[in-house]
Amino acid sequence: MTDERKPGHPVNPIFLERWSARSFTGEAMPEGDLLTMFEAARWAHSASNRQPWRFSYALRGDPNFQRYVHFLDDGNQQWGHKAAAIVIVISAKFTTPTDGSEPRPIGTHSLDTGAALQSFTLQAAMMGYVAHPMAGIEKDRIVAELGIDQERYKIEAGIAIGRLADKELLPEKFQEREKKSGRRPLDETAFKGMFRR
Ligand SMILES: Cc1cc2nc3c(=O)[nH]c(=O)nc-3n(C[C@H](O)[C@H](O)[C@H](O)COP(=O)(O)O)c2cc1C
Repeated sequence: MTDERKPGHPVNPIFLERWSARSFTGEAMPEGDLLTMFEAARWAHSASNRQPWRFSYALRGDPNFQRYVHFLDDGNQQWGHKAAAIVIVISAKFTTPTDGSEPRPIGTHSLDTGAALQSFTLQAAMMGYVAHPMAGIEKDRIVAELGIDQERYKIEAGIAIGRLADKELLPEKFQEREKKSGRRPLDETAFKGMFRR
């Protein structure tokens, strides 16, 4: 791992600029900006173009924003409460045929939804926002309060979106981690020919 973001091969700078910061200013955001991020996610690729991603969201200032803050686990709430919007990412496990045929399982529902999440976070970065994905969410609470049928849908993650603030504004325990992380070398990830462990 390196502690800085230097690509070994040329990539668009946005791949290095996007990062999962935690320090948000606490300001609100226009709903149109969030809709642009959903629009980017909308155009993600998916197996057979089945688009199994779904999103539920609340913006700071909405009557149910605090409800969404409480969808985050305790650790994520400590910084996520200053987000401008909180999104819950959900995937559909089955197709929804319109011809009366039986729904069929979507084997790639999580993979496809991960692609949509990546489009969302990159679009946010391009707009000068931070979009921080979170697995640390209260799934039982989300199921109960959003009325999600777990037979048909999987709760995948949350996303906290906001404008970046100084790291000194974070609770102290998060300040040291408030920097861009490195990555494993490419030769530990991409293997020409035979797979290597
Ligand atoms: C599916 C997923 C779940 C994550 N869950 C959390 C989380 O619960 N809390 C948190 O602070 N960060 C979470 N992260 C952020 C990762 O820690 C972060 O993406 C990773 O360290 C790489 O850093 P970067 O996004 O700044 O490049 C999550 C990221 C992903 C993609």
